[in-house]
Amino acid sequence: MRDGAMETKASGFVNELDGLIGARFGRRQFIQGTLSAAAQWVWPASIDAAESKRDSLLGFQSIPISRSDEVTLPPGYSWEVVSAWGDPVVRGAPEFEDDASQSAATQALQAGMGHDGMAFFPLPFESMSSVSGLLAINYEYVDDHLLFPDGQQNWSAEKVQKSKNAHGIGVLEIRFENGKWEVVRDSKFGRRITADTQFKVTGPAAGHALMQTASDPSGRLVRGTWNNCAHGVTPWNTYLACEENVTPYFLNAAKDTPRLHDRYGVGAKTWGFRWEEFDPRFNAEDHPNEPNRHGWVIELDPYDPTATPVKRTALGRMAHEGATLSITRDGRVAYYMGDDDFRSKFEHVYKFVGTRAFVPDGKYSSNRDVLDDGTLYAAKFHADGTGEWLPLEFGKPGLTSADGFHSQAEVLIDARTAADKVGATYMDRPEWIAVHPSTGETFCTLSNNTARGLGGPVGQADVLGADPANPRGPNPMGHIIRWREADGDSASTHFEWDIFLLCGDPGHADSAKRGERNRGLAFAQPDGLSFDRRGVLWIQTDSSAKNMAQPDWTNIGNNQMLAADSATGEIRRFLTGPIGSEITGVAWTPDERTMFVNIQHPGEPPIEHPGRSDPANPKAISSWPDGAKGGRPRSATIAIRRRDGGIIGA
Ligand code: FEO
Ligand code: CA
Ligand code: CA
Ligand code: CA
Repeated sequence: MRDGAMETKASGFVNELDGLIGARFGRRQFIQGTLSAAAQWVWPASIDAAESKRDSLLGFQSIPISRSDEVTLPPGYSWEVVSAWGDPVVRGAPEFEDDASQSAATQALQAGMGHDGMAFFPLPFESMSSVSGLLAINYEYVDDHLLFPDGQQNWSAEKVQKSKNAHGIGVLEIRFENGKWEVVRDSKFGRRITADTQFKVTGPAAGHALMQTASDPSGRLVRGTWNNCAHGVTPWNTYLACEENVTPYFLNAAKDTPRLHDRYGVGAKTWGFRWEEFDPRFNAEDHPNEPNRHGWVIELDPYDPTATPVKRTALGRMAHEGATLSITRDGRVAYYMGDDDFRSKFEHVYKFVGTRAFVPDGKYSSNRDVLDDGTLYAAKFHADGTGEWLPLEFGKPGLTSADGFHSQAEVLIDARTAADKVGATYMDRPEWIAVHPSTGETFCTLSNNTARGLGGPVGQADVLGADPANPRGPNPMGHIIRWREADGDSASTHFEWDIFLLCGDPGHADSAKRGERNRGLAFAQPDGLSFDRRGVLWIQTDSSAKNMAQPDWTNIGNNQMLAADSATGEIRRFLTGPIGSEITGVAWTPDERTMFVNIQHPGEPPIEHPGRSDPANPKAISSWPDGAKGGRPRSATIAIRRRDGGIIGA
């Protein structure tokens, strides 16, 4: 960010920290380009250079905030629904029926609910097609008052099964034909992964006693995935789905709960999905190790619909938001990962660095075990703007038998405690992480943390007031931090950091809620974050409906998507979502002339998470995407195009 580029009205605590906000990087030499390979693996070059050479990276007209029940875009842009909850995915799937009466078995063939992270994989394999491909999509969680005609009344095994089948992942074949994106019906690639799909477990924690259950004494064969939030990709064309808040699905009503349950939030208070009533796995009092088998990064080959997906334990167990790829200077993978525990709020930022170089042939068959072998680090942000990656290796100080760890497997299963013990920084709900395609500069959204500054113990932390990396306590609006690895190499153990911007209403009287360095644009609680190949930073927001109903959101409105030029600090608002929805997940075709975005949970009611609708009146808040004359609100993937066919955002 260039010094003086911002017009801020900083005051109070924020003003004291101004030296740390944005300014430092402006005075430093810009480290060039060693990480550009990371983007090229994902986005082989095909962009029209002339089109990307403008004074500003951003070529669209910024739009106002919205409170309407629709998707709005800048002039010259259009959108269409590609796949909504209940639309056919697997061969033989029937069409969605709006009365929500379809069976669990039917749901297992259709798109799940709560569309979140996703990636586009061109078809045919190894092609650069921008008109044909596979979309791998996470279905994070459900509103079971929209999933059934009578909500949670008459709760049954069939209802639990349908709820489990509406979670997980989808792989959809899509095609652009006659100016329109459509899901290819009955494609051989169409696949649903659910909370019952069979997984393999690999890496250092596979088979450990803490991973074993009565139904799986091997500790290597786990059923199911759920609460898949953001995602990642590999240079060998597989998809990573990240298991986030998996533990609130388990019930442990016992008075004394194991330490692992306490640290990972398994207890008497669940999120009320009620799976434990008909699937004994979710009674964690009887099955104390079952929660340990979830909270991992999973790898899926979208091109092989019969492949068994894999839980990769080397990347650690936590409420994984996503796994963002960077390539080290010597050709290894590095993954940046946020731990966004919705309930504990104070968690850490992690990095996994592979031990050996991957084979750069784009093939999974050449790289099957790459993610099973590496070093997991947790980040410490020092007050002076430097930082370090602390290795979570069994035997290192803090991670010995005397500290309660007896193997690397235990360090990975309880990565949070390991990070606590080595002194990692407690962050304000770290969400997505994005790596600049040419500079390697890395950005991380910190969604919010209303508990910071209130005092009291959370995890192993003694002091939970504001700190330089999390400068507001409480922090209801969130911020974006960035760092630059030493030598421009994502394998480095040291970095420099600063704060890119503070979210909020730029006109708010309270500095804890005021936006800073955001060019007068009001937005809050950043979550999705991704660079396109031109280096535009796309920011998506996830304020809960409960928050959006507060007066502090008067000038912020519905959740939105913005685009920033991280070098100049310029920001424009690109998209606003329907009522109650979160904007999350973004993927591009290789030519960047189609952008896919997910609209999650339109119609979420303004109550405690997870907000459940009124089953008798499902359209009380939103009827997106169909509109007032259509059906119940549905999470959906939309495709955004420019009417002139140009590059999105340019
Ligand atoms: Fe599922 Fe951290 O958002
Ligand atoms: Ca998220
Ligand atoms: Ca979120
Ligand atoms: Ca959400």
